[in-house]
Amino acid sequence: MADKILVTGGLGYIGSHCVVALCEAGFEPVIVDNHSNARASVLERLERLTGRSMTCYDLDIRNRAGLETLLQREPCSGLIHLAAFKAVGESVARPLVYYDNNVGGSVSLFDAFEAAGGGAIVFSSSATVYGEVNAEPLHEALPVQPNNPYGQTKAMMEQVLADMVRAPGARSQGLALRYFNPAGAHDSALIGEDPKDQPNNLFPIIVQVAVGQRESLTIFGEDYDTPDGTGVRDYIHVVDLAQAHVKALQALLGGGFEVPFTALNLGTGTPYSVREVVSAFEAELGRSLLQTLGPRRPGDVATLLADPRAAAEQLGWTAERGLEAMVTDAWRWAGAARQWGLWDEDD
Ligand code: WQD
Repeated sequence: MADKILVTGGLGYIGSHCVVALCEAGFEPVIVDNHSNARASVLERLERLTGRSMTCYDLDIRNRAGLETLLQREPCSGLIHLAAFKAVGESVARPLVYYDNNVGGSVSLFDAFEAAGGGAIVFSSSATVYGEVNAEPLHEALPVQPNNPYGQTKAMMEQVLADMVRAPGARSQGLALRYFNPAGAHDSALIGEDPKDQPNNLFPIIVQVAVGQRESLTIFGEDYDTPDGTGVRDYIHVVDLAQAHVKALQALLGGGFEVPFTALNLGTGTPYSVREVVSAFEAELGRSLLQTLGPRRPGDVATLLADPRAAAEQLGWTAERGLEAMVTDAWRWAGAARQWGLWDEDD
């Protein structure tokens, strides 16, 4: 009997790739998603991709009673918690919505999971918890000092998890995975980044320019202290990211951690600037993309780069895919999404 793993946000960009990786590793995902940022058609495409029927509950993680009932029906040995709002700009405009959903929802979820018997908890955190720090690369011992409400909710969710699993008699162990910049798509082109609202991130915005949904890419500043003046980030292929979640789960289930809570960076340690990402897309497309230079975006830092060594040492995981694969897979997914008319309709 395969271990059931509860995956909140399982129909989302990271979540859907985690569901595939879990199936490939012999786990049975139980998806919980309130469809706030995912199309219903993702489920059917996940079933096509994995060749198995999926268990999915349309449930909000703030519904404590609903979670309790679900966990009685679906006893899970592990939890991968991905459900959260994640737009930095929106979190500044609507902080209470972010605290209620991200933090309140996590308290409800962790409480229900622990009450149902507990187990291995893998939590989706973010490099945003480091805030504006001038250190390269970023390692896990750096202070957590987020500089926006979204990052604050991630830091608080880490703390909530840490305090819960450290409490006397706790029945769960927790691993927080601090993502750097996820990008790309599964090479089947059945799942990929598919934001319901206007995207804020570089990759989906470049794709919009490439498919003609957006006239040009605005480069947010070229006066940073970086090799070509544009922002430098640590892009990590979403399939590598998903596989890291499975490794984290296996480490916890296998008793690999003496301490109840650990936070680990998920990145590649390889820097790419905005202009390098654009050039990689232009090479893939065989044509240039219209770009305009704009002012720096508030809150942006010059460089965000992971020190990926702790995840390698503690999980036996390192990213295997580079920028070219992220671009090729993102572009293949864009072609499929448009062929299905995904981006022309409200699914
Ligand atoms: C990357 C680079 C921009 C758009 C954010 C969140 C973080 C995480 C990942 C959730 C920067 C530049 C972007 C554009 C541009 N999300 N850029 N023109 O800001 O590093 O991280 O997404 O966990 O929490 O903060 O990613 O893709 O928005 O920006 O020039 O139209 O691209 O200035 O240098 P970011 P991003």
